[in-house]
Amino acid sequence: MMASNPSSTAGGGVTGNDLRVILVDEDLAQRRIMREALESYHNAHILAETDNLFYGYDLVRQNKPTIVFVDVRSDVSATLDVVKRINTYVRDTLVIVSGPEPDRELMHQFMAAGARDYLTRPLMTEGINQCLNLHLASLFADTTHGDDSGRIITVFSNKGGLGKTTTAINLALALAQVTGQSVALADLNLQLGDVSTFLDITPRQTIVDLVRNVNRLDAAYLKNSLHQYQCPSLAPGSGSVYVLADSPRMEDAEEITSGQINSVLTVLKNTFPYVVIDAPGTIDAKSVVSLDMADYILLTAIINLPSIRSTQRTLSLFSRLGYPAAKTKLLINRFVEGEEISIEDVEDTLGVPVFWRLPNEYFNVIKAINRGVPLAEINPNSPIWQELLQMAHALCGKLPQGGSEALPSVGGGAVLPQGVVGPAPAGKAPRMPLFSGFKPGVSIFGKR
Ligand SMILES: Nc1ncnc2c1ncn2[C@@H]1O[C@H](COP(=O)(O)OP(=O)(O)O)[C@@H](O)[C@H]1O
Ligand SMILES: [Mg+2]
Repeated sequence: MMASNPSSTAGGGVTGNDLRVILVDEDLAQRRIMREALESYHNAHILAETDNLFYGYDLVRQNKPTIVFVDVRSDVSATLDVVKRINTYVRDTLVIVSGPEPDRELMHQFMAAGARDYLTRPLMTEGINQCLNLHLASLFADTTHGDDSGRIITVFSNKGGLGKTTTAINLALALAQVTGQSVALADLNLQLGDVSTFLDITPRQTIVDLVRNVNRLDAAYLKNSLHQYQCPSLAPGSGSVYVLADSPRMEDAEEITSGQINSVLTVLKNTFPYVVIDAPGTIDAKSVVSLDMADYILLTAIINLPSIRSTQRTLSLFSRLGYPAAKTKLLINRFVEGEEISIEDVEDTLGVPVFWRLPNEYFNVIKAINRGVPLAEINPNSPIWQELLQMAHALCGKLPQGGSEALPSVGGGAVLPQGVVGPAPAGKAPRMPLFSGFKPGVSIFGKR
């Protein structure tokens, strides 16, 4: 295979807002379609094209394009490896892969490797444009704002007992391991938080002390007052997790205002590259701050009707709050293969893709809770910890900022027969096209 020469078409006047593209694709006709699709963007420049994966990787490393399109067909495992490398070494380049209709496992692997999208071939201009439009707002928001502040990931569900605290704690540790950076873990269950119990720590200061000193909060003050949690089971080179716990005195919650929560989160975000929030299971003026300020909301559900129903209502609320679709990531916890309601049923009903699944591992999870240690300490090889690491990897890429695309209104206030999951949105729901098997508008009962 001969590599094509890179053909620089960017010319002069390339600005930070230019869409600089590299195409790595063996198929000349498909490259022509991609060029045609890019013509409708006045700021798009194809920096180089090649039919060779490894030469393509070199080009990406040298040119650091905004986007690289990669054909996965010739060698899936080599492509996975290249995607991982790009995600590690050229972090700001967005990778879009294309190949045959993938199975779920393959999409999962590409996503975990850091691809932002998987397009099914043959490529069409509309599909490419749709995909670009989905990602451009976040791309340019990142480059134009030069925002170095940290990313807030809020773990939320509007029911208790679905695994928020378990997920938040272990995700914070997984992020510390995957990124090697410091991660803040904030327990915003102001009355009866569980983080300090789950980790068996007694922090010297809690959120109440922080809000009392809100006017002199800065990075140094924060790092001194938060509890630096050491987990011996994390890989060498991992970052630290700094815990902001709730007050042991329940009545203290009363004195904390939403404005103060906003201030605390702002300082956390300016101090730590990642902030993971264990959010309360209610939505009110205080708790909504951690949702508003989140870059990502990990909306946690389990596969049963009450949980799916309440997730549907939560998605509907997020839509009314005007959150961009890409902000909410649906997390299925306690997943068991082969259950009566499948992942596809859940996606069809809710009209959003499932972002990640965490397996049901009752004994590991309950052992971790009862011993007051994280999952990595119970068994670093357990599937649940491995999945958490992969999820952390997927979350630490570029995050969407701003964007105008709101979630569709779900349910639409229809009166539902008791126990029946309501209608999915009638229109086409905005979603990450990574999961191409999406069929909106089908009730999970339609499949029974
Ligand atoms: N992946 C999982 N597998 C098995 N059990 C789990 C899992 N995640 C959570 N649990 C169980 O669910 C219970 C509630 O988890 P927790 O993290 O406290 O949820 P929340 O914070 O949403 O109330 C825990 O007692 C734990 O045993
Ligand atoms: Mg909890």
